[in-house]
Amino acid sequence: MIKGLKAALGTVFVGLLAGTSLAHAQSTDGELIKKGEYLARLGDCVACHTSLHGKVFAGGLAIQTPIGTIYSTNITPDAADGIGTYTEEQFADAVRRGIRKDGSTLYPAMPYPSFSNIPDDDIKAMYAYFMHGVKPVAQPNKAEDITWPLSMRWPLAVWRMMFAPTPAPFTPAPGTKPDVARGEFIVTGPGHCGACHTPRGFAMQEKAMNASGGPVYLSGGGIIDNWIAPSLRSDPVQGIGRWSEDDIVEFLKSGRTDHAAVFGAMADVVGWSSQYFTDSDLHAIASYLKSLPAVPAPQGDYKYDPSTAQALDSGNTAITAGAKTYVEQCAICHRNDGGGVPRMFPPLAGNPAVVSDNPTSVAHIVVDGGILPPTNWAPSAVAMPAYKTTLSDQQIADVVNFIRTSWGNKAPANVTASDIQKLRVTHTPIDAPTRTWGKGGVDTATWGLFYPQPYGAGWTFAPQTHTGEDDAQ
Ligand code: HEC
Ligand code: HEC
Ligand code: HEC
Repeated sequence: MIKGLKAALGTVFVGLLAGTSLAHAQSTDGELIKKGEYLARLGDCVACHTSLHGKVFAGGLAIQTPIGTIYSTNITPDAADGIGTYTEEQFADAVRRGIRKDGSTLYPAMPYPSFSNIPDDDIKAMYAYFMHGVKPVAQPNKAEDITWPLSMRWPLAVWRMMFAPTPAPFTPAPGTKPDVARGEFIVTGPGHCGACHTPRGFAMQEKAMNASGGPVYLSGGGIIDNWIAPSLRSDPVQGIGRWSEDDIVEFLKSGRTDHAAVFGAMADVVGWSSQYFTDSDLHAIASYLKSLPAVPAPQGDYKYDPSTAQALDSGNTAITAGAKTYVEQCAICHRNDGGGVPRMFPPLAGNPAVVSDNPTSVAHIVVDGGILPPTNWAPSAVAMPAYKTTLSDQQIADVVNFIRTSWGNKAPANVTASDIQKLRVTHTPIDAPTRTWGKGGVDTATWGLFYPQPYGAGWTFAPQTHTGEDDAQ
């Protein structure tokens, strides 16, 4: 009897043990999926792999390339249309090496060259998330709109061998502070900031994948859906040299700072990705960016010039063409002094985006307007009106030139009515033929290195922008 009881108790005990280990396994799976979900946020997989008004992760977003349009693919765990039959190794190969299950090479519009530094543990977590944390969606992939022979994929494999880094887990240089190292991992790796902020070379490769590639790294990229990603180096005029670490954190978290408000392609990054980063990761990113030297050596600093505001305040709008339009249309929000209203209407004085070499972004926001993406940290959606129907092409060109040359801003006033007409009607970006740094004129010595795109403004991969179309997913 006692023996029987002992045996029964033993069974219960073993059963209890099994129960706990089962529960333990489930909670680690849950943790793994959570970790993978966060990594997918760091990589902003969702913004690219969701079409405009489309189903989450089901693919179909159009990405312009110089040879035609390609579409992101369905990465939900659907077995027929998505990646449901991918093994973890096949998933790792797609994400880090750009090789899909059938062995063919992906277009590097998928930022696998950046993702090559993601370690195995993180891949494992992401795989768990995509297999078990994402809903399967039956939605077939779209074929690319590229005509033969350019549509052949084998040259992509040659490209991959020439330009894509061999996958290797990120290792910081000896002596790097841990937070700077974490920031470097995110910026160069999953965050793929260089995909937009680094110029591309003759074969569309990013000219540098990290700071060891020299001053061109993060020095400003091509035109993405008619938005320009400016320099993230510490230049005080064209870059973020006058931003503090906290400014960068605030910008990535809420999209608004005392210096600028987020717009265009970057609004997708903030709204769909960086607003969800932990504070410690945001600080790590900021301290890494601030650790990069100014590029090239700054030629002067930004200095506020009060004469524009004095003229406008005294009703003198004859100072330059565009001043009258500015006072009538823009000053109510951006103010006569170009200072805007903190965290509501961005300043235009000293705003790096306003003086960027290529005026396409600035002209684009005046033509089409903009909506600040609401974030958990700044929930109000504040809008900038579109002027394409209220102002003529000439008036828009004049007001763009006005804001680029007022309050101490020193960009060239070279936007014409025909530039605006093309931008408005055919969405053609403005291709500024020369690049000038500070007041130095055309810097021919560094032209090859710093001219943003060798074959013109559209020399990049340009995903469509969701902001203003869809709520963040
Ligand atoms: C900048 C846009 C972009 C981002 C960001 C992006 N992808 Fe992609 N991805 C693409 C495109 C475009 C393709 C298809 C390329 C092609 O057809 O050659 C693709 C293909 C893939 C494939 C191959 C799928 C298949 O159909 O075989 C996988 C897997 C994948 N991406 C996973 C991810 C993950 C995971 C992330 C986030 C860590 C991510 N992607 C982020 C654009 C992106
Ligand atoms: C899809 C393309 C894209 C990606 C990826 C991207 N950016 Fe941007 N970024 C832009 C564009 C376009 C702008 C200009 C619009 C603006 O200022 O809001 C910009 C602006 C910025 C600015 C403001 C700079 C200024 O001078 O006003 C910061 C800071 C920034 N990005 C940081 C980052 C970081 C950090 C990452 C990586 C986590 C990143 N970006 C990834 C496109 C991108
Ligand atoms: C109703 C208020 C309002 C008016 C009027 C207005 N803007 Fe804006 N402007 C905004 C807001 C809000 C943003 C931020 C939008 C965004 O980030 O998408 C903005 C952004 C901008 C930017 C990009 C700067 C940045 O850092 O985001 C430029 C350039 C700009 N406005 C120029 C103008 C010009 C030129 C006019 C007049 C033709 C004008 N604005 C009229 C509210 C306004």
